[in-house]
Amino acid sequence: MKVAVAGTGYVGLVTGVALAHIGHNVTCVDVDKEKVEKMKNGISPIYEQDLEELMLKNKDRLDYTLDYKNAYKDADVIIIGVGTPEREDGSANLDYVHSVCDQIAESLEKDCVVVLKSTVPIGTNDEIEKDLNDKVKDGIKVYVASNPEFLAQGTAVHDTLYASRIVVGTEDDFAANIMQKLYEPLTKEPYNVPYLHTSRRSAEMIKYASNDFLALKISYINEIANLCKKLGANIEEVTKGMGYDSRIGNKFLKAGIGYGGSCFPKDTKALHWLGQIEGVELETIQACISVNKKQKLVLLHELIDDFGGSIEGKTIAVLGLTFKPGTDDLRDAPSIDNISMLLDYGANVKAYDPISTESFKKKINFKLTDDGVKGTIAFFDNIDETIKDADATMIMTEWPEVVNYNVKQYKKLMKTPRVYDGRNCYKLEDMKDITYSSIGR
Ligand SMILES: NC(=O)c1ccc[n+]([C@@H]2O[C@H](COP(=O)([O-])OP(=O)(O)OC[C@H]3O[C@@H](n4cnc5c(N)ncnc54)[C@H](O)[C@@H]3O)[C@@H](O)[C@H]2O)c1
Repeated sequence: MKVAVAGTGYVGLVTGVALAHIGHNVTCVDVDKEKVEKMKNGISPIYEQDLEELMLKNKDRLDYTLDYKNAYKDADVIIIGVGTPEREDGSANLDYVHSVCDQIAESLEKDCVVVLKSTVPIGTNDEIEKDLNDKVKDGIKVYVASNPEFLAQGTAVHDTLYASRIVVGTEDDFAANIMQKLYEPLTKEPYNVPYLHTSRRSAEMIKYASNDFLALKISYINEIANLCKKLGANIEEVTKGMGYDSRIGNKFLKAGIGYGGSCFPKDTKALHWLGQIEGVELETIQACISVNKKQKLVLLHELIDDFGGSIEGKTIAVLGLTFKPGTDDLRDAPSIDNISMLLDYGANVKAYDPISTESFKKKINFKLTDDGVKGTIAFFDNIDETIKDADATMIMTEWPEVVNYNVKQYKKLMKTPRVYDGRNCYKLEDMKDITYSSIGR
């Protein structure tokens, strides 16, 4: 099948590469010249395990281009995987989706199935189908299918090939048949992915309802963790005990300093916004959003209290900048809120991340030019240098480099050995020699 994919981010590129891997001819389209050049040279523009190997292995069925016209004009299937970031009011910004649709309408020379993989508000697929058919050349018909994506960054390739499920929402047999053919190899050995066919609106809702449920689970366990800490219970024992119950399950029960990333924060706000528009107040989602906002700073407040209310002039080491390990993504990472606040309060930050230091520098630059900012920030490429002479260390990401670090070094290298661990990286018994604060323990 001739497939074009619009957008080569975490979703688009991984989908394109996976579809090439199962035998389709795939052209990946992006508007970012630098990204396209990299991919043409076999380099992945994003950090994802196994991605470059699969790009290489399937290079004969993969093409990368800025030339959308050629890619779209005779494609059997065009998959849209561009971003749908949040607007200020919390709603999803569909500008990128609309702009791809205009490019598709301008290019198409035959009937085509357009697949919305981007996370979009319920009803968007209906609107896009109408809009595309209004705009394409006479005699051409476009069928739109909703095909939400459930991959997690850090394990995106595995999550796509061995997906928990493929959800396809269509309103006609033509799109339904093409979609089934597209994914048929993944529904068989060795992948055996369950394939669920629904209406388009249900498919759109499955995505939001799933993501928001996971976000809710995290916020819930974080609140329980905060209470455990006050009452002397240990959240890890508690979640272990809960996880045996198959009605609860043991996934997404890890307490920490809040969720981040490109999906949970915006998808909770988008669904809440959508509910309000329809007159349905989603109170659980609202609670999840506000719990997470507070949770991100829970250790920082504790640290400030421990320093008697002022951290001005203190040296604070920050380990990990990405929102989770295994990805280079900094979108909505707790490190951003924490470091911004540390700088506002006049602390001098020493930061470390195994892969995202350069992109973090660009992100935090706006902050450093603010008049109100009193602190400074410097970046290091190893943990020893980062924590050396620090008054306190904050752990934001459970990178293996942090988890496997020799904890004796904290006492040896820091000015005062105080560690605020937002990801519960260490066993309590290993940290008895120093001041150690974690989540829910
Ligand atoms: N990242 C995830 O873990 C994840 C998981 C499931 C679903 N989603 C959803 O998938 C969508 C994409 O997310 P992402 O994280 O992959 O985004 P991303 O920001 O990593 O990538 C988007 C890409 O689209 C490109 N682009 C923008 N306009 C374009 C155009 N007109 N033509 C071609 N390319 C264009 C951008 O240059 C960029 O490379 C979002 O709706 C997101 O909510 C993301």
